[in-house]
Amino acid sequence: MNQPGLFPKPVASLLIGMDKLPELLSRVMPLKSKHRSAMPGQIRALSTYLTAERDQLPRDYMNQPPLLSAYLHYFMPWNLYRQGRLLAGLDLRIKPGAQIVDLGAGPLTFLLALWLSRPEMREQELKYLGLDRSDTPLKLGRQLFRAFAEKSPWMVRTERKPVGVGRNPTADILVMANLLNEMEWGGEARPRARDEEDEMGSPYDQVLAKWESQVADDGAILLIEPGMRASGINLFRLREAALARGWHVEAPCPHGETCPMPGHRNSAWCHFSFLPTGVPIWLINLSRKAKLPKERASLSFLLLTRGENPPVKVAGPIRSGGGESFVRVVSESFDLPDWQRGRYGCSERGLVLLQDQKTPDETGPRSGDLMAVTWPDKPQKDNKSGAWIVPRTR
Ligand SMILES: C[S@@+](CC[C@H](N)C(=O)[O-])C[C@H]1O[C@@H](n2cnc3c(N)ncnc32)[C@H](O)[C@@H]1O
Repeated sequence: MNQPGLFPKPVASLLIGMDKLPELLSRVMPLKSKHRSAMPGQIRALSTYLTAERDQLPRDYMNQPPLLSAYLHYFMPWNLYRQGRLLAGLDLRIKPGAQIVDLGAGPLTFLLALWLSRPEMREQELKYLGLDRSDTPLKLGRQLFRAFAEKSPWMVRTERKPVGVGRNPTADILVMANLLNEMEWGGEARPRARDEEDEMGSPYDQVLAKWESQVADDGAILLIEPGMRASGINLFRLREAALARGWHVEAPCPHGETCPMPGHRNSAWCHFSFLPTGVPIWLINLSRKAKLPKERASLSFLLLTRGENPPVKVAGPIRSGGGESFVRVVSESFDLPDWQRGRYGCSERGLVLLQDQKTPDETGPRSGDLMAVTWPDKPQKDNKSGAWIVPRTR
């Protein structure tokens, strides 16, 4: 039995919105032609800052027009696409009237992704507060939202505010998208290794304690990060700390046991990837010009909830009973000996290698799908990965 996947085909409203984006961007941030022609180079420069040279990233990069326009034309649309696919796939049920606080909101990417990918929520009451240490992207994000959603009943506010400084506004749902990598963990660019941690608890524990004080008793935290190993490790450690503090992991994990994909040393890290189906041609061309084409989109994420009546739920799997358990397919498929295909997945018993017959049309589960599997009576372990071998029954 195959349960809903995380990344179904993109919804039409998301693709229509992305088609319109260049026109709306030229309205909210008109560019001279010399700045337009310099943009591919600026996109490459910002990409290097955001990955390899993160310590060189200017703190106010979102207030510098060349870097801001690179963000708005390349990084934001790809984030919009990734977040839109996820928000539709998760089928998030957000309670009417819930207050979303988005930390490091930038140009309100999350809000725009929610609006574009969940048209059935457009008439619902919703409160959104976007916070960022830079003012300009917040202002442009508000203008973009109004251009997409002129008569929306959603109450949208923004505030210039560095994370963790001063009084924190309370949230039913605290969102952070593509922020963890930029956060200063106790003055350090990266959290310390486990053995260096002092009695204060890990930086992950400390940061969660701060977020907790800001989130309602019946509340949720949604973290969305790039599909990189460093992000996977951060989410693994946050998940561990959150479970110890009594949070429930709503997604993507099909269990609350130890994560089998911690990302340490050479181990796999939890992230999902999918074909960028339907991405508008203008974004594909710009990505090529910037020499940053994408054959796959990828991300990692974590949705935590607490309380009896959390403000957000994902459409959950239907348990069929009778010895089945759930496996979240994480990797894409790869060749195994004897005309077989394999996929790594996550289960409450640990890492799973789902084995399947090769099919000429390459059908089968995809990264992010949730599968109900029947375990063999005496499961074997794969020598290479240590994963439990589970044959996929068709
Ligand atoms: C990579 S962008 C992500 C923007 C948006 N969330 C998205 O997914 O496209 C990171 C944002 O976090 C903001 N930021 C970084 N550190 C911050 C901090 N300490 N306090 C507030 N905002 C911060 C940056 O100004 C930037 O707008």
